[in-house]
Amino acid sequence: MSTEMAQTDPEGVDVVRMTWNVWPRTKVEASKCVIPIAASISPIRPNPDMPTLPYHPLRCKTCSAILNSFCRVDFSAHIWICPFCFQRNHFPPSYSQISETNVPAELYPQFSTIEYHIDASAQPQLVSSPPVFVFVLDTCMIEEELGFAKSALKRAIGLLPDNAMVGFVSFGTQVQVHELGFSDLSKVYVFRGSKELSKDQVLDQLGLGTMAGRRTGGPGQGFQKGPQAGVLNLGVTRFLLPASECEYTLVSLLDELSTDQWPVPPGNRALRCTGVALSVAAGLVGACLPGTGARIVALVGGPCTEGPGAIVSKDLSDPVRSHKDLDKDAAPYFKKAVQFYEELAKQLVSQGHVLDLFASALDQVGVAEMKVVIERTGGLVVLAESFGHAVFKDSFKHVFEVGEQSLGLSFNGTLEINCSKDIKVQGIIGPCTSLEKKGPAVANTVIGQGNTTSWKMCGLDKSTCLTVFFDISSSEKSEPSGNLNPQLYIQFLTSYQSPDGQTRLRVTTITRRWIDSAVGSEELVQGFDQEAAAVVMARLTSYKMEMEEGFDATRWLDRNLIRLCSKFGDYRKDDPTSFTLNPSFSLFPQFMFNLRRSQFVQVFNNSPDETAYFRILLNRENVINAAVMIQPSLMSYSFNSLPAPALLDVASIAADRILLLDSYVSVVIFHGMTIAQWRNMGYQNQPEHQAFAQLLQAPHDDAQMIIRDRFPGPRLVVCDQHGSQARFLLAKLNPSATYNNAHEMAAGSDVIFTDDVSLQVFFEHLQRLAVQSS
Ligand SMILES: *[C@@H]1O[C@H](CO)[C@@H](O)[C@H](O)[C@H]1NC(C)=O
Ligand SMILES: *[C@@H]1O[C@H](CO)[C@@H](O)[C@H](O)[C@H]1NC(C)=O
Ligand SMILES: *[C@@H]1O[C@H](CO)[C@@H](O)[C@H](O)[C@H]1NC(C)=O
Ligand SMILES: [Zn+2]
Repeated sequence: MSTEMAQTDPEGVDVVRMTWNVWPRTKVEASKCVIPIAASISPIRPNPDMPTLPYHPLRCKTCSAILNSFCRVDFSAHIWICPFCFQRNHFPPSYSQISETNVPAELYPQFSTIEYHIDASAQPQLVSSPPVFVFVLDTCMIEEELGFAKSALKRAIGLLPDNAMVGFVSFGTQVQVHELGFSDLSKVYVFRGSKELSKDQVLDQLGLGTMAGRRTGGPGQGFQKGPQAGVLNLGVTRFLLPASECEYTLVSLLDELSTDQWPVPPGNRALRCTGVALSVAAGLVGACLPGTGARIVALVGGPCTEGPGAIVSKDLSDPVRSHKDLDKDAAPYFKKAVQFYEELAKQLVSQGHVLDLFASALDQVGVAEMKVVIERTGGLVVLAESFGHAVFKDSFKHVFEVGEQSLGLSFNGTLEINCSKDIKVQGIIGPCTSLEKKGPAVANTVIGQGNTTSWKMCGLDKSTCLTVFFDISSSEKSEPSGNLNPQLYIQFLTSYQSPDGQTRLRVTTITRRWIDSAVGSEELVQGFDQEAAAVVMARLTSYKMEMEEGFDATRWLDRNLIRLCSKFGDYRKDDPTSFTLNPSFSLFPQFMFNLRRSQFVQVFNNSPDETAYFRILLNRENVINAAVMIQPSLMSYSFNSLPAPALLDVASIAADRILLLDSYVSVVIFHGMTIAQWRNMGYQNQPEHQAFAQLLQAPHDDAQMIIRDRFPGPRLVVCDQHGSQARFLLAKLNPSATYNNAHEMAAGSDVIFTDDVSLQVFFEHLQRLAVQSS
């Protein structure tokens, strides 16, 4: 069963998807391919077929690549040749039994992904190092919202493993750090919200500084023997206690906790010091050993208005910044807040700790400013409209669930990449931080987290995905490139600590073929992965929109698509009707059409917080999920046929159909008019209309399947044709029925498409421009 799954899984056993699976040899040829050479990798996705080895890997003595099935082995001489640097390495004595008929697992061709479970007894302090959770709760909320947040927290604490260490910080206008060590007398340390604090100041004030640690951290002062002793600085056990020991204290503390009492004059926002609260929490987890699985779990109900990290003034007549404000440089708080969070990100990454953000508010809370900390540390983020909404409640519960539903939260991850000569790494887009480790494979140009061959992932989980951008360094075809090996190799090494605290090293070694004549060659075309390419283009576009001032995303995407179609389409020059695309490319234009219309490019339809949220998800999910974010999937349910995929087009709407749209962050069940009428008349409750009852139920069952496995949980919208919620479906559909004015739009200019053209018009323009002799 599991083998079959792996074989039918488009992500493959290695969970590596490349835009191009055959690589041009030179930089010039690569640039003619239009779509960059990139790989989307899921470093620790569960792989039931992957062997786990209980010993340390063998490394090449020159380049430190790990022994793998692409190494040439001379069994009689007991030598293996490294495919990266061609170094001949001797097998050590532990491999003395090796022969053609007795080969270790790492040399089996089907085990290109393998995991080393390195003996934990060698690092006793790491054995079952407990996870650490510091909950940071905003109290500037209305009673009802705070109530929802508190019950979610109580439920989470109940789900934590007994040995998990828990801390609690609440904040409003000031920050309160609650000492959980005393159940009778609750002791609170208060920090002013208006002042930026260094890590040392935080630690000193909590009595955890290097000096204070010596004074108060003796064995008499809440210090306990046990697994946590190796994880924590002495003294910090006053604030961080095992869940089993502090659950009672914490629950009673939550019961008593009221909304922030600081007076809020009419016309003002609450003074909320999210920035200082997170700084204080970062200081507190900083007292744990670096690299231990410490997470700051923040529940935030509104914008920061006080102290560092503020995103808006306290005056309610100043609206929170919009995309327009950001565009016009009219968001006076934005840059400063981002800078503050960049510093916080640096601190957390150096500590190896994670920030998770659960934001819930009708207005914005500052996800756009905090994005940098969440992404750099590999944190989770959920944006909901209320702490009482299923999107928050289900997602929050999911984080703490164990068993099959578990997210598999892991920590202290490091990714290293080795590649064949002539391949350089430009960088990574996704949840990680560059470790600035220079090496021969570092490219001159940087995309995302670059300038390195090594990246930190403080937090990572089963679904974490990264996009690696490659560059080809050889400039001339004729330049002898190594020994002109027709294969190229890339090795991804991910070391991390699994949820149970064990150290793991996952090694994925992949090979692809070089080709000499690039564009137009059949092999290159066959090796194009259009789904991966669409996702990579979406990530790159989002990145450029954030990084490059005045970047015109639509124009850039159009130009690239036209170039791609000119290069790879079949046509007679200047004859649009002759244009055809090889099946390897045929889905790609539609992906670009939907990307142009998507929330990633049409950002003005959303708030900056929403955009930041969508982009974090786009960057961290695998190709299949990210593709759904760009181009939602649509299923149709009707009496006469089995549920079937439907075109993402208004023409798919029919009175006697139900549609199920999955756009990743929302799942929409849409009843055609007739279906809605029958339902309103209660036909489904009449025994003779059982078939109707089943038809009505089927999309709900399928929606639940989608929702169950997804994090963050999507918003479920159930609506009827012509109802107000129908816009959730309509916004995603190709407007074929409203735009039939193709020829009017046919201008000869270079930038061609307006934002709302139908797919057909888009294709017509594309064909005409692609076949133009330039
Ligand atoms: C975290 O990972 C690094 C690099 O892999 C390793 O050297 C360090 O010992 C790890 N820290 C912990 C606490 O496991
Ligand atoms: C492989 O990776 C290691 C560690 O990052 C680095 O020292 C070495 O130079 C790399 N070798 C190649 C051939 O990229
Ligand atoms: C990359 O490193 C170089 C020199 O080491 C530095 O000048 C440059 O700013 C770095 N670029 C980025 C994007 O970090
Ligand atoms: Zn080597």
